[in-house]
Amino acid sequence: MAKPFTSPRPAEYAQIPKPIFKKDWFTDSLLPGPNPKLSDLQSITFLANTPKYILKLQRKYGDHVSFFLSNRLFIGLFSPAAVHEVTVAQQHSFVKGVGFARMRKVLGEGLLTNEEPVHLNHRRMMQPPFHHGNLDGYVSLMFDLVEKYTEEWRSKDEIELAPEMMALTLEIVSRCLFGLDSHQYTKAIAHNMEIAIDRIERTMLPGLEKFDHSPISYFKKFEVASDNLADIAEEIINKRIESNLTTSDDLLGIMLQMQDQVSTEHIRDEVLTLILSGHETTANVMSWAFSYLNKNQKFRELLRQEALKQSWLDEKRAPTYKELEDGSPIATAILNETMRLAPPVWIAPRIATKDVVIEGIKIPAGAHVLVSQYVTHRNPRYFPEPKIFDPNRWLAPNFENSLPKGAYFAFGAGSRKCLGEYFALAEARLILLMVARSFELSGKFPKPQPRATYRPKGKVKNRVKVIN
Ligand code: HEM
Repeated sequence: MAKPFTSPRPAEYAQIPKPIFKKDWFTDSLLPGPNPKLSDLQSITFLANTPKYILKLQRKYGDHVSFFLSNRLFIGLFSPAAVHEVTVAQQHSFVKGVGFARMRKVLGEGLLTNEEPVHLNHRRMMQPPFHHGNLDGYVSLMFDLVEKYTEEWRSKDEIELAPEMMALTLEIVSRCLFGLDSHQYTKAIAHNMEIAIDRIERTMLPGLEKFDHSPISYFKKFEVASDNLADIAEEIINKRIESNLTTSDDLLGIMLQMQDQVSTEHIRDEVLTLILSGHETTANVMSWAFSYLNKNQKFRELLRQEALKQSWLDEKRAPTYKELEDGSPIATAILNETMRLAPPVWIAPRIATKDVVIEGIKIPAGAHVLVSQYVTHRNPRYFPEPKIFDPNRWLAPNFENSLPKGAYFAFGAGSRKCLGEYFALAEARLILLMVARSFELSGKFPKPQPRATYRPKGKVKNRVKVIN
């Protein structure tokens, strides 16, 4: 099977227009933004800390900015209305942009990186197991796994929250979607994912891909990590085929039954995609959520009170999805607020495939367009005192409905919206409530380490006190 790292972008996808180079762009059509003459310096500061860089641009120049990176035109659109235009109303005028070409080197043509005419077909095939109504079985597996992991905390004084959450969410996704105990792969996946997530972001600017096949160790390691992950995904599929469990109705079972419509390579790429998108994001949210709660005693206590009210916890049984959704307003507000300030997917880069007009601004075909959860979620107009972690804002009557479209989009929007939104919310609520019921955590607030996801830096050590 050809490996994602060396496979080219499929010819059946729409042609990407030529980028707009600095020399071809008239100065009088520039939006506010930094001086194009300093674009080399901008590329360096952009890569050093991208969320901080684009937030600074928004603060200085407003909701519509233009700048040049690697000599190419980039347009940042940060107002909710513009976000809605790019991700929903005019989504068909864009394809996924910088970063996604690098991501394709690891995930191949899975749902996160593929394009039409493949995307919608795959989405339809993969959607049923993720519907609200079909999640009870998964919630039951999640409950057993959270219990198994947290039971081990009882004999410990300290845990490393970040790796714990990565291992737990990886096992959840593997068991729920592939019917597999991921234990034997946890270390290998974590190690190779760490390298991949770093390189996808660090090397996302156009032009850096020319080093991919050079002997430079930094790039070489990217290829090795990508190949290792592909080998693991292939092994998962082969083991499943050998076990004769191909008719089971989890996601891998569904895909294996459709082998007449979807190639083994595509199935491998979907497995890779679900491994990455299905655990890394939720694990980061959990590490951030517990870290914010360490600083916010009031909400930590409110969460504990909510956990004490859960009858399913008294009865030592898994809840239904509905019980979780209806019975945990505090946990939900904490998660919304965590993903407002530390959105695991913090940027949605796109490329315009045709000329479009958004909020009166002409975006030429070939321009790179950036919308960013990290920036738009910090708009003081919709989130007063935006730097403050305050789950209370989500509890105000009608707050969420009063937000304009595009103001909050932690799970994206439009046809590329997150497939695993309800799955992620179910496991995140479950982890919050089950931990809050039995443990008190305390630890230092981590620094961010923004990469392809918005990660906390380091292992996020926390002391554990058993309270129940
Ligand atoms: C808190 C956790 C999560 C967050 C915040 C999140 C966020 C997102 C966002 C923002 C996108 C859209 C990216 C873009 O438009 O450029 C996305 C896409 C996607 N996510 Fe998630 N995600 C999470 C968890 C999950 C889980 C648990 C799964 C699977 C089990 C998953 C599977 C996917 C897939 C397959 C896509 C691509 C969908 C498509 O293009 O059709 N995600 N996610």
